[in-house]
Amino acid sequence: MIHRSGGGTMTGNKWLLLLLFIGSQARASLLPSASGGGSMELGLVRGHSWSVEGDGGPKLELTREVLRHDVNRYKMIISAKHRRESAPMTRRKAWEEDYLNGNAWMEAPMTAGRDYGIGEYVVQVKVGTPPKKFWLIADTGSDLTWMRCLYDHQQPRGGHRPGVLLPAKSSTFATIPCSSHTCKVDLMNLFSLSRCPIPSSPCAYDFRYMDGSFAKGIFAYETISVDLTSSGPKKLERMLIGCSEIIKGQTLQPVDGVLGLANSEYSFTARAAREFGGKFSYCLVDHLSHKNLSNHLTFGSRPQSRSPLLGDMQYTKLVLGRPLNPLYGVDILGISVGGTILGIPVQVWAPNSGGGTVIDSGTSLTLLAAPAYRLIFGALEASLSRYKKVDEKLSPLKYCFDSTGFNESLIPRLGIHFKDGAVFEPQVKSYVIDAAPGIKCLGLLSVSWPGVSVIGNILQQNHLWEFNLAKGKLGFAPSSCIYI
Ligand SMILES: *[C@@H]1O[C@H](CO)[C@@H](O)[C@H](O)[C@H]1NC(C)=O
Ligand SMILES: *[C@@H]1O[C@H](CO)[C@@H](O)[C@H](O)[C@H]1NC(C)=O
Repeated sequence: MIHRSGGGTMTGNKWLLLLLFIGSQARASLLPSASGGGSMELGLVRGHSWSVEGDGGPKLELTREVLRHDVNRYKMIISAKHRRESAPMTRRKAWEEDYLNGNAWMEAPMTAGRDYGIGEYVVQVKVGTPPKKFWLIADTGSDLTWMRCLYDHQQPRGGHRPGVLLPAKSSTFATIPCSSHTCKVDLMNLFSLSRCPIPSSPCAYDFRYMDGSFAKGIFAYETISVDLTSSGPKKLERMLIGCSEIIKGQTLQPVDGVLGLANSEYSFTARAAREFGGKFSYCLVDHLSHKNLSNHLTFGSRPQSRSPLLGDMQYTKLVLGRPLNPLYGVDILGISVGGTILGIPVQVWAPNSGGGTVIDSGTSLTLLAAPAYRLIFGALEASLSRYKKVDEKLSPLKYCFDSTGFNESLIPRLGIHFKDGAVFEPQVKSYVIDAAPGIKCLGLLSVSWPGVSVIGNILQQNHLWEFNLAKGKLGFAPSSCIYI
């Protein structure tokens, strides 16, 4: 379990902490955006190291790392859901604000993290004044945006590592007094500490993990900016950030931080979407892509023509608020395999009956409640069993096989049917995944029932996803996500 230091139980949402379990590293680059217009795009680079050797799949140990990450993250998802169900939620706001600038958009580059050894996509933003580049994991499950930072120790030892914020060198960095209501009440959800040596001391946080890793730092307001090709850099001033001074635990060492995209008033999303049309979108390049293939995380309405859509945009309701908050829920009617709707009990998809589904950029595989997994596996088994099953100790993946002679067109297509009629049909490679050289696995995990199901980022790849918070809907369409 994660303990809030200074006593008390974990009251806030904890998504960013998931990342401390992940064993991930992230990098991203802010690539020039391909066209003009007043927009912000953040580039996303994928995370887990699916290093492909020659024509083979990713290395086996890296697949294991992805599994470890997803399983740990899932534990956090369910414990956080439990906590939300049992604790009153008073401070979450709905998307009722006025959107300040409905026509503008902003974006930054986003590529697969394969080359960086992690399973998430990473985005580059600039922080501070003058702006400095940071590579942050784009996480729809995190509410706080934080980065490596040296506040007390203003002279970094061993030279200036890129991706460390130096508040002394930023004219826009402003601490939050520990005596303030913001620190004592509002930021309690984000693990603020009660420690307050003098009233003007910065509001501090301390995250502790069962595995001994932790992150300590202070909250601050700071300017986050992104480049724009046509109208110059776009700035978001006084964004709440975490200045993480001490990050312990091997897994976080190569990461600059996290970009919090959850549906939360503290998240980057809250401010950026409010200023840019109430929505954000990303188009996930293939998860095995190198970092030189990038797309963007976009706030506002992106220009249509840049990565052509390979089908119509479909829309379904986003299920926001409890009990899945601050994650993004979707309302599933059922799942089909090869065109046949499976008889999955409806409770599996109902958040108030112990089920429900979230779409998450910080989970790699897709996790399905056991009753759904069983039926889907059963429907796919016949087509998978023509290949030689291998035991590669990739638990909890249940079915892996020698990919010699694999013919994708013989695998039935999966269809996720939403209640309002939209149907998401991922590519076969998004659920029959490359796990190691010469080895493919059914890339779905079974989680115990009752439990939330999670649509992970591999299933989402090669699609544009638009999270319209103002209208409470999720749009999606197939795309290579490659700019032309
Ligand atoms: C991207 O990088 C990979 C490996 O580093 C290389 O094989 C590929 O040719 C590059 N693609 C482009 C378009 O530069
Ligand atoms: C894959 O299967 C399809 C359908 O049976 C067939 O038309 C195609 O030739 C096969 N492709 C390969 C590479 O064997």
